[in-house]
Amino acid sequence: MSNNKIEIDKRRTFGIISHPDAGKTTLTEKLLLYGGAIQQAGSVKARKAQRYATSDWMAIEKERGISVTTSVMKFNYRNFEINLLDTPGHQDFSEDTYRVLTAVDSALMVIDSAKGVEPQTEKLMEVCRMRNTPIITFINKLDREGMTPIDILDDIENKLQIECTPLSWPIGMGKRFKGVYNLYKKELYLFTPGRESRRRQGRVITDLSAALLDEMLGSQARDLREDIEFIEGVAAPFEVDHYLKGNQTPVFFGSAINNFGVKEMLDAFVEMAPSPGPRAAVTRNVSPYEEPFSGFAFKIQANMNPAHRDRIAFIRICSGKFTRGMKAVHHRIGKDVTFSNATIFMANERENVSEAYPGDIIGIHNHGTIKIGDTFTEKEPLTFCGIPSFAPEIFKKAILKNPMKAKHLQKGLVQLAEEGVVQVFRPVAGNGYILGAVGNLQFDITMERLRSEYGVDAVYEPVDYHVARWIECDDPKKMADFEKKNKSNMVRDAEGSSAYLTTSEFQLDYCMKEWPTIAFHKTREINNSRTPHPQAA
Ligand code: G4P
Repeated sequence: MSNNKIEIDKRRTFGIISHPDAGKTTLTEKLLLYGGAIQQAGSVKARKAQRYATSDWMAIEKERGISVTTSVMKFNYRNFEINLLDTPGHQDFSEDTYRVLTAVDSALMVIDSAKGVEPQTEKLMEVCRMRNTPIITFINKLDREGMTPIDILDDIENKLQIECTPLSWPIGMGKRFKGVYNLYKKELYLFTPGRESRRRQGRVITDLSAALLDEMLGSQARDLREDIEFIEGVAAPFEVDHYLKGNQTPVFFGSAINNFGVKEMLDAFVEMAPSPGPRAAVTRNVSPYEEPFSGFAFKIQANMNPAHRDRIAFIRICSGKFTRGMKAVHHRIGKDVTFSNATIFMANERENVSEAYPGDIIGIHNHGTIKIGDTFTEKEPLTFCGIPSFAPEIFKKAILKNPMKAKHLQKGLVQLAEEGVVQVFRPVAGNGYILGAVGNLQFDITMERLRSEYGVDAVYEPVDYHVARWIECDDPKKMADFEKKNKSNMVRDAEGSSAYLTTSEFQLDYCMKEWPTIAFHKTREINNSRTPHPQAA
């Protein structure tokens, strides 16, 4: 137990949220360099490009030259063990991207200083908010001209509804970018352009009025003094409690490509970011320090090795200690499983793991029995909460080309829905399958897998739906009334829950006003307990 505590307290499990091109890959690479997990800059980028050339596990990935996978990278920094969960940042992101955030303890938000808050960051932030995930912000690309720091902070506060507290402050930007002043250590870091400089000494400047500052910064010294005076007057002071509750975000400025401001941010990150905390299960909260092992599957990845058609379930450990060969109960199906060969994902390779602790992610082989959200424990039947389905935004109808394969299509769709590849709905009136996803890529993957794994030849047909909400009502009569009046918009999801599909947000608003007693939900908890979902009957 006491050994576990030492291991748990030094773990930091986090994900990066950003819009494509903000610099997530570049920053990841610098973090891994500090962790010694890679030796050479360019490795992560190279891997991003190389996947296009050599990864053959999925034709789509190759065709489109993007990374479909979400990977886990483990590295050490100082005395900390860090698990960085990659959230695919392509425009075509998927529900996986969202779900990864249910397995982290904190997040790092990367913002491009020229663009401010962009749409994908807003979406990912919505997911962080569901669990009040603490967020540290890194404003990137200060070596380029961008928005003023004040405008960026304003933008974050307005669009993301989170209080910003700058812990570093930039001196100029673009060609005039001179460095950052660390507000809590009162240290000045001067910028000399050039990639790869790993060590940088800060100059401690406790008194900003010192002449030394003018010597170092010239005319920009006065700007810095004014900025700091202003910031100290208006910005909320950093309060660790507010950060841990997800109400306040400490902000750092820098330039990932120049490796500037990254180390300061990483040092603050390991010190401030929470170690694995308690997790809510249906019956109680589970502390990471509890001795019995528990964990849940948040992602299933198919075809990592096309020769074996294998699937790997990614399991986040929530309590106890994992040891190779241990037994656990897979509660949804009520079976014992032996974890004989689990994988831990290091930044540069996959390794067979012999022990792992809360906060760690292990991969276990799965032959189609594990479903997203499944809980594994040594004994106590637990079901962890907080692994939601997200209302799809894109819909298509799947049409079978060969009617003899109807059974295969059904089997394939049930399986793919359980793996969280796509959401499958059956219309209440009429037949067929309406598929829903948050990104187009999910449709391509579904079709590819239906063809290669289930031998199903199908095509998509457009449908005029753009919005979905799961619906609930305490009054069964009202619910029945709603369903009757809106029959052509009603569907059942894979678990039998009722959902309402419509053409636009405007139509949805209209319907919500008309039916005030009906609750419309944008997310739905995946039900993985052994008792059927109340609405599935
Ligand atoms: P992503 O994973 O968030 O999509 O972003 P990525 O790191 O791939 O970075 C997107 C682009 O922004 C890259 O340029 C990268 O070099 C650049 N970038 C990242 N950090 C900084 C920074 O601090 N300053 C500046 N000026 N640029 C930065 P690219 O032209 O797409 O690629 P490449 O030419 O570097 O290969």
